[in-house]
Amino acid sequence: MANEAEPARVAVIGLGYWGPNLVRNFAAAEGARLVAVCDLDEQAVARQLAQYPAARGSRDGDEIIAADDIDIVVVSTRPSDNYPIAKAALEAGKHVFVCKPVSQIPEQALALAELAEARELILHTDLTFLYTPSVRMLRQILESAACGELSYIESMRTQAPWRADINVVWDLVPHDVAILGHVLGRMPVEVSAHFAARRLASVEHAAFVTLRYDDGLHARLNLNWLSPEKVRRMVYCGDQGSVVYDEMEDDKKLRIYRGGFDIGGVNGSEKLTTHYRSDGVETPSLSGDEALAVECREFLAAAASGGTTLSSGAEGYRNSLVCAAIDRSLKGDGRAVTIG
Ligand SMILES: NC(=O)c1ccc[n+]([C@@H]2O[C@H](COP(=O)([O-])OP(=O)(O)OC[C@H]3O[C@@H](n4cnc5c(N)ncnc54)[C@H](O)[C@@H]3O)[C@@H](O)[C@H]2O)c1
Repeated sequence: MANEAEPARVAVIGLGYWGPNLVRNFAAAEGARLVAVCDLDEQAVARQLAQYPAARGSRDGDEIIAADDIDIVVVSTRPSDNYPIAKAALEAGKHVFVCKPVSQIPEQALALAELAEARELILHTDLTFLYTPSVRMLRQILESAACGELSYIESMRTQAPWRADINVVWDLVPHDVAILGHVLGRMPVEVSAHFAARRLASVEHAAFVTLRYDDGLHARLNLNWLSPEKVRRMVYCGDQGSVVYDEMEDDKKLRIYRGGFDIGGVNGSEKLTTHYRSDGVETPSLSGDEALAVECREFLAAAASGGTTLSSGAEGYRNSLVCAAIDRSLKGDGRAVTIG
């Protein structure tokens, strides 16, 4: 960057649904100065300039990437455009904050991470949920073994704008894969997925996904763009307790159910009994920090100090690898696909 003591000079390319959130957070972040906003759509640029008149507007991403007065390029274009723009920005010597999915081709995501490393630049993948107070607390709860041994996980992630360039897997599953990787500390070894609705278009808008882990743990994901209700809910069920994580709740995003079940008798015997224990429900209080504000802060600190972030380019690659395997299974009628 130009001078470590000066705020990092930031440009945001892509001002559709998500980009304005990034503009707002980088404009407010300590250690950053919003220098430019860019979109192919003139109206989208004008809307941001009306709120941030000190920034300049552009409809030309190449001009932004080549500019000498920009240190950081934030890429929030369509998923299919994220990779070439992020690559060009890294090649021009900029730190890059890029929306998920970085690329639908894992090899491209890996090449991008390697390019950033070779150039000593920060490549950060926007996996926003990793920066929510709820997911950070969820990880602590699971690490404390409050649930005992996990037996299954289920996730429901429904309602999102229809996309023409990617299916529901590439749109929503990056969040599940990131959250699960963070709280469990590992990736699935095998995945399978089915298209789960009447087909309305060539893009798959609904899916049932199963992730299998090396110790027999399973996670089931239910994804659908067209649900009348927006749901962002996960259940982690163990033999000593369970956690329900609901990002749509205001003040009870996490509920810890103490207790569990004891299975009596010998498996296979006629009198197998299950005794359920219930020792109360806890709702830990969480900070009200906005995830994107936390994420921008951590990214800017890494760009200033040469560190890394929780969702580095390498994490973006692992995320792409799992999503690609799920998408392959979806297109192969649920055939199990091994990761790696
Ligand atoms: N983290 C989250 O929770 C979250 C939520 C929504 C979207 N996203 C991600 O954010 C990204 C953007 O999604 P969106 O919903 O805002 O999409 P969008 O289609 O609403 O907006 C994309 C914008 O990029 C612009 N654009 C495309 N190519 C361009 C180029 N070459 N130069 C300049 N502008 C260009 C388009 O004109 C459009 O305004 C996607 O990668 C998506 O997966 C993340």
